[in-house]
Amino acid sequence: MKQAKLILDKDYRIAPIDKRIYGSFIEHLGRAVYTGIYEPEHPSADKEGFRTDVLRLVQELRVPVVRYPGGNFVSGFRWEDSVGPVENRPTRLDLAWKTTEPNTVGLHEFCSWAKKADTNVMYAVNLGTRGVMEARDVVEYSNHPKGSYLSDLRRKNGAEDPFGIKLWCLGNEMDGPWQMGAKTAYEYGRIANEASKMMKMADDTIETVACGSSTRVMPTFGEWEYTVLNECYDNIDYVSLHRYYGNSFGDTDDFLASTVDLEDFIHTVGAICDTVKGKKNSKKNLYLSLDEYNVWYHSNNADQTLYKERAWDRALPLLEDVYNFEDALLIGLMLITILRNADRVKIACMAQLVNVIAPIMTRPGGGAWAQTIYYPLQQVAALGHGVALQPVLQTEKHDTAHFTDVPDVDAAAVLGEDGTVTLFAVNRTGEDVALNADLRAFEGLRVLRHSVLHHEDNKAVNTELAPFNVVPRDIAPAKDAQNLLLGKMSWNVIQFGKG
Ligand code: AHR
Repeated sequence: MKQAKLILDKDYRIAPIDKRIYGSFIEHLGRAVYTGIYEPEHPSADKEGFRTDVLRLVQELRVPVVRYPGGNFVSGFRWEDSVGPVENRPTRLDLAWKTTEPNTVGLHEFCSWAKKADTNVMYAVNLGTRGVMEARDVVEYSNHPKGSYLSDLRRKNGAEDPFGIKLWCLGNEMDGPWQMGAKTAYEYGRIANEASKMMKMADDTIETVACGSSTRVMPTFGEWEYTVLNECYDNIDYVSLHRYYGNSFGDTDDFLASTVDLEDFIHTVGAICDTVKGKKNSKKNLYLSLDEYNVWYHSNNADQTLYKERAWDRALPLLEDVYNFEDALLIGLMLITILRNADRVKIACMAQLVNVIAPIMTRPGGGAWAQTIYYPLQQVAALGHGVALQPVLQTEKHDTAHFTDVPDVDAAAVLGEDGTVTLFAVNRTGEDVALNADLRAFEGLRVLRHSVLHHEDNKAVNTELAPFNVVPRDIAPAKDAQNLLLGKMSWNVIQFGKG
């Protein structure tokens, strides 16, 4: 059997974990909103029309923050369309996703849903086709208590108390040629700076996220971050990263090595932040918001057919990836990578939450169920609180089509406030690995629990009729930390404590 060795020490610390790394995203896209979170005709709908079966799954995921309302959608969106009496709201064409948006669910409704879901809103403003003034207006409308035209309009529209939205995205993927109102780095850096400045003048308690490159493979990646940050460094708090992976070539080993790229992406953007910090001789550190990450490829062909056959319909079933077991392993690896970069990554949003490349699926009028990728996020969001520890891991490495020196085992560890240690580990190979964990300075800890996500079939999925086909299961805990077993192709959550 393969062997691996891990050293954990309470003095080897990366950083306290910001719980916002367990965030998600809901865009007015496909069936995320309509027949996703909102379906007034559904048997489980509450009096506002929100599906309570979906709410329960979201609550069980413990999502601390949800980015909204887009995505590409936001670059054609007028926030004013989404407030006031529903019957007066305009129906608009959404040019980003070729659908029709009725604006039935808007800012007030979404904030109400967020309260029920026990989460916070991360709101994106349109800096593609709108400007600085509209951006500061929506901050005033949402967060100013009362006594101004916009805050009193909110009260008149039914929300006496401010929404108190603390986190704001300055547009979306502004470098992408597909983006409505796409900009050059300099143009965007300037508008991001001015928008953030004015939004903070309207409410100085908010934080803002500037758009990094829409993906690492953009030809302008790097140069974009440098130029944008050069313009807005002093007035923003985070820069965004977006990253999706897919197993389009049917090469699972290569697919599961994708987090080598993610880690390098995070380090590279961090290095650019520090370069701009150095150039400006600034004392301020900039942090990262990985506010779109996931697996995304299963639905690509079906979407092209939908556009041909049903363009401009409402709630088109777009981006409905059905996730399999190997996708869940990659999500586990992505979460491990995020945790190991807890000193830099303060926000991360799985894109998205319901139906659209999502951990939760629904059928209109029917059930709601958890996809395979739901489980690693749920487990890390439940247990990954405290301080991220620096795991010192000795494991064999292998090469894949696009990556070299890929560790067989990848891991992150968290020291909880109560002194428990939780290890998240993936064995990405087809052979079992015996793991010897040396917990040195942690005295008297024993293995309390070991949960494993594994399926013999990498392509196994959960469906409405078989929702628990791929779920984590507890196995008998090893007698001690030196004798752990990481089964082939598995996601593992191992808790150590004194209990
Ligand atoms: O999450 C789906 C889309 O992916 C978002 O709208 C966009 O920001 C990204 O390209």
